[in-house]
Amino acid sequence: MNQPLIKLEEIVKTYYGAGAPVRALRGITLDIGEHEMTAIMGYSGSGKSTLMNLLGCLDKPDSGSYTLAGYEVMALAPEQLAFLRNRLIGFVFQNFNLLGRASALENVTMPLIYAGIKSRERQRRALEMLNLVGLKGREHHRPNQLSGGQQQRVAIARALVNRPRLILADEPTGALDTSTSHEIMALLQNLHREQQLAIVIVTHENEIGQHCQRIIRLSDGMVVNTEAVKNQLRAIPAK
Ligand SMILES: Nc1ncnc2c1ncn2[C@@H]1O[C@H](COP(=O)(O)OP(=O)(O)OP(=O)(O)O)[C@@H](O)[C@H]1O
Ligand SMILES: [Mg+2]
Repeated sequence: MNQPLIKLEEIVKTYYGAGAPVRALRGITLDIGEHEMTAIMGYSGSGKSTLMNLLGCLDKPDSGSYTLAGYEVMALAPEQLAFLRNRLIGFVFQNFNLLGRASALENVTMPLIYAGIKSRERQRRALEMLNLVGLKGREHHRPNQLSGGQQQRVAIARALVNRPRLILADEPTGALDTSTSHEIMALLQNLHREQQLAIVIVTHENEIGQHCQRIIRLSDGMVVNTEAVKNQLRAIPAK
């Protein structure tokens, strides 16, 4: 078998705040394959976002090991970690996290500025990504001139523009109505298929999970169940 893209072993994460320590993750062991589309589900407080932050190299566990694309994450220096994150991972958030005063095009171009790509190439790639997510003709709209679903498409284009191998999406449909949620899931399914991406989606909604190939369920900081989805839901992408 090929090496998985993500390999977690006995990951433990505790938050030390004002009150008693919170053991948010209590020994997570799991693999996620290259090109796999996975949902992480579980009730509020079960550790989903904590797990996503660790997967995204935004935070470090107390103990355990995390291998991402063959790199032992815990052993990397902060600047190596930032490099790995920028190269390998695209992030999508519940509330889109777009820059309000920048156009769709400028929002998508942003990660390429940090990656040191020249202006003309930035424009070309950002336009290509906006086209890919179905936003041709909306390049110069600002977020408040776009619907929620369109804003999430901009955010997905931005996540894709550095050509990552992994998309991490924490509740990407949490702020959207049902039919828009299905459109966004159809887009993610297409990207998964056509761009050969691994996608990890946190969701509360069973229906959203059913669009993925596998559902990992967390409870109280532990994996309680992993199931393959037999008949994946396929939404028809709206044009
Ligand atoms: N920065 C923090 N400091 C202290 N405790 C935290 C912090 N972040 C999360 N926690 C606690 O860790 C546990 C797991 O939180 P997490 O945000 O990972 O849950 P979640 O599954 O994403 O929940 P939700 O579905 O509500 O988003 C919770 O008990 C939470 O209160
Ligand atoms: Mg959360």
